[in-house]
Amino acid sequence: MYSRIAGTGRYLPERVLTNHDIEKMVDTTDEWIRERTGIERRHIAAPGQTTADLAEQAASRAMEAAGVTAGDVDLIIVGTTTPDVVFPNVGCLLQDRLGIRGCPAFSVEAACSGFIYALTVADRFVTSGKSNCALVIGAETLSRITDWSDRTTCVLFGDGAGAVVLQPADEPGIVSCHLGADGGYKDLLYFPYGPSRKPEAMHGEGAFIQMKGNEVFKVAVKTLESIVDEALDANELECSAVDWLVPHQANLRIIQATAKRLDMPMAKVILTLQDHGNTSAASVPMALDVGIRDGRIKRGDLVLLEAFGGGFTWGASLIRY
Ligand code: UT7
Repeated sequence: MYSRIAGTGRYLPERVLTNHDIEKMVDTTDEWIRERTGIERRHIAAPGQTTADLAEQAASRAMEAAGVTAGDVDLIIVGTTTPDVVFPNVGCLLQDRLGIRGCPAFSVEAACSGFIYALTVADRFVTSGKSNCALVIGAETLSRITDWSDRTTCVLFGDGAGAVVLQPADEPGIVSCHLGADGGYKDLLYFPYGPSRKPEAMHGEGAFIQMKGNEVFKVAVKTLESIVDEALDANELECSAVDWLVPHQANLRIIQATAKRLDMPMAKVILTLQDHGNTSAASVPMALDVGIRDGRIKRGDLVLLEAFGGGFTWGASLIRY
């Protein structure tokens, strides 16, 4: 048995913060941000609007696209590092909103790779017959942990959510998933506090995303090259077999490097970061939804998803849409 993506959805909060808006906040320019990152604008959750709110919107759209109702859903997995609360996890909050009772619901905390980690776990549930309708989501409100006075990070991040519905199928579907991590890089990209380490500092000085951007950049390029190679080798496929690359949307130059490695023209890459910046776990499912809804990704196309993020964590998934 295989799993297949039956429907996708995404949601971006209404408020848009452009590069020009950020020029008024820190010492930066629209030109620098576009040239170094490819980002033009990002969406910011309204006060009080939480990760579960964004997830709910994306999930509803994915369920509608898949033609399923809340009653059909028997598994919820949410990739996020910006949960509403420490617990209940965002999966449970979402389950309650959808009026579902009893099915497993949990979050996966793997930073920007969170959605691919969640998809991999959900695929295992579906292919082993334990789930007939899994809701898999990447949702983040990174704006809440971004230092809006730090130009080296605040130009990068935004809020959003993307979702897919996974169902059993006779053919793939999800062809293969490949995950990795290296905690040795924990000091290059991190949020310094948590309920178990300096809980009193969680909303104090320095309680924001910390990143050595340039060093992250180099490891990201190298790791993404090897994870896409791993996905292709595992399936004895040439680069030319891939119809679409749906990358994590962190930096245009990182995406270009991966496309080059795959010998793929940028026309075959779904690029959305100009519109919402780095939304961590939400970026891959949102880009997938964009490519599907605008008609570029068609049923039967071979699509390569990839992501890299804090941890470091990384992952790739090859899917026959
Ligand atoms: O999603 C998880 C994974 N995260 C990533 O993949 C992010 C990876 N890193 C990156 O995307 C890039 O490293 C950044 C976009 C964060 C930075 O680009 P960069 O080309 O690596 O720049 P840099 O950090 O080497 O900085 C170059 C210069 C520095 O000035 P000096 O020291 O050369 O005078 C920075 O101070 O650019 C300066 N700078 C800025 N200037 C204007 C840094 N941020 C800004 C800014 N506006 N916002």
